[in-house]
Amino acid sequence: MRDHLKPTVQRTAARRDRKGAAFYKTKLFLTGALYASLLPAQEQAPNRILRPTNGAVLTGKIEGIAKVANSGSVFLDGALLATKEKAPGVLTFLIEAPSGPHSLELKYEGGAEKLTFTSGKSETPFRLHPPAAACETCHTVRDSIWGFKNEVLETTCSGCHNLKDFATRHQHNREQLADCAMCHNPHGSSEAFHMKYPRKIACKQCHG
Ligand code: HEC
Ligand code: HEC
Ligand code: HEC
Ligand code: HEC
Repeated sequence: MRDHLKPTVQRTAARRDRKGAAFYKTKLFLTGALYASLLPAQEQAPNRILRPTNGAVLTGKIEGIAKVANSGSVFLDGALLATKEKAPGVLTFLIEAPSGPHSLELKYEGGAEKLTFTSGKSETPFRLHPPAAACETCHTVRDSIWGFKNEVLETTCSGCHNLKDFATRHQHNREQLADCAMCHNPHGSSEAFHMKYPRKIACKQCHG
């Protein structure tokens, strides 16, 4: 499975080489301790809802995304939603809900994940990223496995973003932060700059 997610594998290996064993140990420790406590802890879970995120405020209809190891169904306020399977285990579904609080549940073999979201106005609405791009801008299906179009994640991002000023904006060079998805949610976010987590938590992934 992981073989098909080359960017992740490459990025992890590169990070390990670059900073040496000490840094990697810290990272491992943080990955265990921090992901278990502060972070949603579902980043690499085989079954999970990728979009929207828990607590999001949706200002209109959006296409949701879920990943399942085998098969699964999605329920909006308890009612089964129609899903499309873009590739084995990759589900998309249309979420259209009247103003107010709602629940979204992914039921999969051996478990379930439930999140809540609100439909309506907000100062920090959930914003899709990229706004109108097809999944295939970044992904591709190889041997019926959902993977990435480019081997290096940054190549995918720099297709649309000018990363010339990366070091200035990020206070790190591109090698140090090659794993863009550690901090940014590539599918959308309620945070400024499409952050995956509030900045403080994002930084703590490496700086304890
Ligand atoms: C801007 C690029 C981009 C677009 C467009 C995009 N994705 Fe992704 N996707 C990513 C990245 C980057 C990751 C890895 C996320 C991470 O490591 O947290 C990912 C991860 C995933 C995963 C999890 C893969 C796994 O095996 O863990 C699924 C499923 C997925 N995307 C589905 C979709 C679908 C469906 C669409 C279209 C509705 C889509 N993506 C559009 C960049 C994108
Ligand atoms: C298909 C083009 C496209 C690709 C590919 C793409 N983006 Fe974007 N991205 C956009 C657009 C358009 C916006 C501005 C609209 C918005 O904020 O949603 C944006 C906004 C952002 C922002 C917020 C910028 C700001 O000033 O608020 C970040 C951060 C970001 N993208 C990161 C990434 C990362 C990381 C990747 C690679 C995984 C990526 N993008 C790939 C088109 C793209
Ligand atoms: C350590 C967390 C972190 C990582 C990893 C990270 N970013 Fe960012 N990114 C940020 C933060 C924080 C900002 C907001 C910077 C600011 O306040 O100006 C940002 C801003 C951005 C922006 C909008 C500003 C601009 O320069 O246009 C883009 C685009 C972006 N990042 C792309 C990327 C890409 C591509 C990668 C991977 C190569 C990446 N980021 C990796 C934290 C991160
Ligand atoms: C992917 C891991 C990673 C993440 C996430 C990360 N950094 Fe770093 N950061 C590094 C590395 C590697 C260095 C270089 C340290 C060295 O050479 O000893 C560094 C250096 C720094 C430095 C220079 C001072 C120092 O300690 O050497 C500052 C300041 C800094 N980071 C702030 C941040 C902030 C703020 C965030 C969140 C937006 C962040 N970092 C997120 C990896 C990371």
